[in-house]
Amino acid sequence: MTPTLGQQLRNSKEINSQLDNLVEQVLAVSSKISGVRPADPGHEPQSSDDVKAIGGLRGRPLFYNYVGSGAGRGPYVELEDGSVKLDLINGIGIHLFGHAHPRVIRATLKGATFDILQQGNLQPNVEYRQFSEKLASLVRRNSRLQYVWLATCGTIANENALKISRQKKRGARMIVTFKNAFAGRSTMMAEITDNPTFKVGMPDYNEVLRLPFYSSQVPMDKTLAVFKEHVEKYQDKICCFVFEPMLGEGGYRAAPREFFVPLLEFCKEQAIPVWADEIQTFTRTGNFFAYETLGIGQYIDVCTIAKTAQVGATFYTEDFKPDAGLLGGTFSGSTPALCAGHEILTMMDEDGYLGPHGKVMQIHHGFVKMLNQLNETTCKDQLVEAGGLGLMVAVTPLDGSKEKQLALLKTLFKNGLICFGCGSEPYRIRFLLPAVLTTADIDVAKDIIEKSIRELS
Ligand SMILES: Cc1ncc(COP(=O)(O)O)c(C=O)c1O
Repeated sequence: MTPTLGQQLRNSKEINSQLDNLVEQVLAVSSKISGVRPADPGHEPQSSDDVKAIGGLRGRPLFYNYVGSGAGRGPYVELEDGSVKLDLINGIGIHLFGHAHPRVIRATLKGATFDILQQGNLQPNVEYRQFSEKLASLVRRNSRLQYVWLATCGTIANENALKISRQKKRGARMIVTFKNAFAGRSTMMAEITDNPTFKVGMPDYNEVLRLPFYSSQVPMDKTLAVFKEHVEKYQDKICCFVFEPMLGEGGYRAAPREFFVPLLEFCKEQAIPVWADEIQTFTRTGNFFAYETLGIGQYIDVCTIAKTAQVGATFYTEDFKPDAGLLGGTFSGSTPALCAGHEILTMMDEDGYLGPHGKVMQIHHGFVKMLNQLNETTCKDQLVEAGGLGLMVAVTPLDGSKEKQLALLKTLFKNGLICFGCGSEPYRIRFLLPAVLTTADIDVAKDIIEKSIRELS
């Protein structure tokens, strides 16, 4: 069969060698980044033109004085003011392999050689098929999930999951989820989200029922008892149970398998659809899915991902296939994003990142150990409850107040480390660690955290 022109583009020696050349040239520049450094003399970070311009255009200031210059290397990123920071939040979890990873750049550039920038649900190209196939092969390993529908972000993937669940339950409205849940920023996902500061002035739709999450203060059977009360009251008005396998924005609180199983068994008995929101946990817990880490894959009917995949996706089982017309949308992800996402998942799958002794868990143990060492020595009792799952790590700093958390985040940033907050009472700081973090980088983080805590205590 004669190759299509598209196949010729894909296989062209000339194009491929030019792409290799471009990657080399990018790396020749970005490899000059050698570690954290302050802003260039002459630049005034507090009043940087870029930071002010963005604040002015949005009508809301940026949280950090952060405008990236476009250059980075691994966990390090250069900002427009010439400073280099250790980036341990990665766009709130997008850049799994950090900045300017050669294989990610190569895949992104390759995606840009094809005829269209944005792929659509009506007219997908071959990368749509390849990426969906990769995702389907991953999700089918340890669950009953079979199908994948792409979306442009986590919120839309979640909206699709909710619609699928509601259609299955013939229009039931009520959603069961945990206290302190986070589900995204659309009107409905903000309703599921349990953070009043994210929805000031929004009406309450009264469609969400909450359960207490696992904690040493709540007996395990309490959560199931509350679930049973909701079901008794609302019965067939409940459309799904949606949960994050580890509370994300809610404070990086993990729970053991024994906590989830009775809830999931109860859902099965009551025919309540189970939807796992893995938007933050996907690729980070030592397995592709946290439901694998927890060994609960067989219970999941619907699952959502985004962030590190570079594209959002909703997975569902045979029983949950939506009717025609329910899902749609113009965009299904850009061609470079589909190519880069495919490459990222391939690296994760093939290069020793997964499993209890893989690179992800090594980074986890090294980072948590460092935080605990500081807490026991130079930052005595100032960094408590370090933990999380895999590349998601959080710690409660200082007195756990919002004021101190914010002050520490800004001080860390000033000193060269970027992370972010999560949780409330106590207010924690969280790290979305890149999978390329080395022990030397963890030492850099240690010095900055120690210095910053000292400045504030
Ligand atoms: C658990 C969870 N669900 C949903 C979302 C929303 O995803 P997005 O910001 O891509 O819309 C997020 C984002 O942080 C998340 O952590």
